[in-house]
Amino acid sequence: MLESLWVWTLATGLISIIGYLLGTWTHDHFSKKNVPHLKPVPFFGNMGSVAFRIVSLPESLVDWYNRLKGHKYGGVYEFLNPIILLRDPELIKMVTVKDFEHFVDRGVRISEEVEPLFGKGLFSLKGQRWKDMRSTLSPAFTSSKMKNMFVLITECGKQLTDFLEKCINDKNMTIEGCKIEREGNILAVEMKDLFTRYTNDVIATSAFGIKWEDDDITAQVALFFLAGFDTASSLLSFASQLLAMHPDIQSRLQDEIDQTLKVDGGNLTYEAVHGMKYLDMVVSAPHINILFTIYLLINNFLDYVIFPFHKSPLVSLYNLLKAIFVLSLVIYVTETLRIYPPIGILERRCVQTYTLPAEPHYTLNPGDFVYIPVYALHHDPDYFPDPEKFDPERFSDENKGSIKACTYLPFGSGPRNCIGKKYLLSV
Ligand code: HEM
Repeated sequence: MLESLWVWTLATGLISIIGYLLGTWTHDHFSKKNVPHLKPVPFFGNMGSVAFRIVSLPESLVDWYNRLKGHKYGGVYEFLNPIILLRDPELIKMVTVKDFEHFVDRGVRISEEVEPLFGKGLFSLKGQRWKDMRSTLSPAFTSSKMKNMFVLITECGKQLTDFLEKCINDKNMTIEGCKIEREGNILAVEMKDLFTRYTNDVIATSAFGIKWEDDDITAQVALFFLAGFDTASSLLSFASQLLAMHPDIQSRLQDEIDQTLKVDGGNLTYEAVHGMKYLDMVVSAPHINILFTIYLLINNFLDYVIFPFHKSPLVSLYNLLKAIFVLSLVIYVTETLRIYPPIGILERRCVQTYTLPAEPHYTLNPGDFVYIPVYALHHDPDYFPDPEKFDPERFSDENKGSIKACTYLPFGSGPRNCIGKKYLLSV
C-alpha cells in the first residue's frame, strides 16, 4: 500500500516536472537576450486570457503594449512561440516600409494544401508569389476599371432599394433571411446585417465586373469577399453608431452635406464624388462606391423608411446614411477607423535575418514573427489625446499634420498594405 503510494507520488512528480519543462522550454528566450518582455505562464505564454476568451487579441495587445511602455519594442510569448511586439512608430516604419524586404510575408499559418482557396489568396501568399500576384492584381484597380464597376455597383443599390420598397409597400410580403422586422409602418433594421449583405453584393458585382479568368485569380476574388465585406460593413456600422451617439457632430455633418448637395443641384455623379476636397485622404474606393450607392438609396425613397432611432434623441437612418455618404465625411470615416479599426493587429514574418535598430539590438531570424498593435497605437493618448473621444477634427486639414507617421494604420503599412486602399489612391 505504502509502496504504491510512493510510486504514484513519484510518477505524479515526474509528470509535473516534464510537463513544466515542456510548457516553459522556450520561455527564457527573451531573458537570455536581455529583451524587455512580459512574464509568461507555462504553456500559455501571454495568451491565457485570449485562449480562455476573456479578452480579444487586440485587447490583449493593448495590455501588452501598455505594460511595455518606455520600450521601443518588447517580447511576448504566443504560447511557446516568442514574438516581438513593436511599440515605436519609427521601428514600425523600418520593418514595414524601409526594410520591407526582410519582412515580405505575413504571419498567416494556413497552408495551401489544407485550405487551397484562402491559402492561395493575396493575403496569405509568400515571397515572390506574393509579389507576382500583387503586381498582377494592381492594374485591376485603375480608374477606368472603377468606372465600369461603378455602373454595376449602382445597380446593387437599386436592387436593395427595390427590395426595401417592397418591404414597406407590400405588407403581406414575408421578409426571409434578412434581420428586418416590421413594426407598423416602421422597418426595424439590423444595421450590421444590412451592411454585410450590401457590401457582399457590391464586392461580388465588382469582382465579376472585372471578369477574372484564371484559377489562381478566383482565389483572389474569394479573398476580396473575406477581406472586404466584414471590414467594410463593420466600418459602416460603426460609423452609423458613432454618428448616432454624437448628434452634435451629426448635425454639423448634415449642414456640410446640404451645402455639398446644393452645389451639385442635389445630384452627385461619379466624377463629383471623386473630385471632392477630402478625397486624397484615407478611405478606400470600395467605400466610396458603397457610399455612392447608399446615396442613391436615400435619394430614391429612404425618406419613407424611418429606422429604429427615429424616436430617440439620436437620428433617423435617413440622416445617418446621408451623413455617411458625403465625402467631407472622410474625416468622420477616418476617425471611425481610428476608434474601431476592423483589423486591430498587423503581422509580419521575418524572411531575412534582421537586427532591430533599437536598444537592445535583437536579431530576428527567418520564420520569426512581429506584431504591430494597431488598435493600441490608435488608443494611445501620446498620439491621440483623449483617445476614446470621437473627434473627427483630429483629421481636419489643420490638424492632420500633427499626426505622427505610423501611429494611424487602419489599412496597414508599406508595400503589403491593404490593396483596397491602393484601389482608392489610383482613382
Ligand atoms: C474598411 C475596409 C478595410 C479595411 C479597414 C482593411 C484593412 C486591411 C488591413 C489592415 C490589411 C493588412 C495590411 C498590412 O498588413 O499592412 C489589409 C489587407 C488586405 N486587404 Fe483590406 N481592408 C478593407 C477593405 C478591403 C477591401 C474592400 C478589399 C477588396 C478589394 C480588401 C482587400 C485586401 C487584401 C487583398 C489584402 C492583402 C494585401 C496583401 O497582402 O498584399 N480590403 N486590409
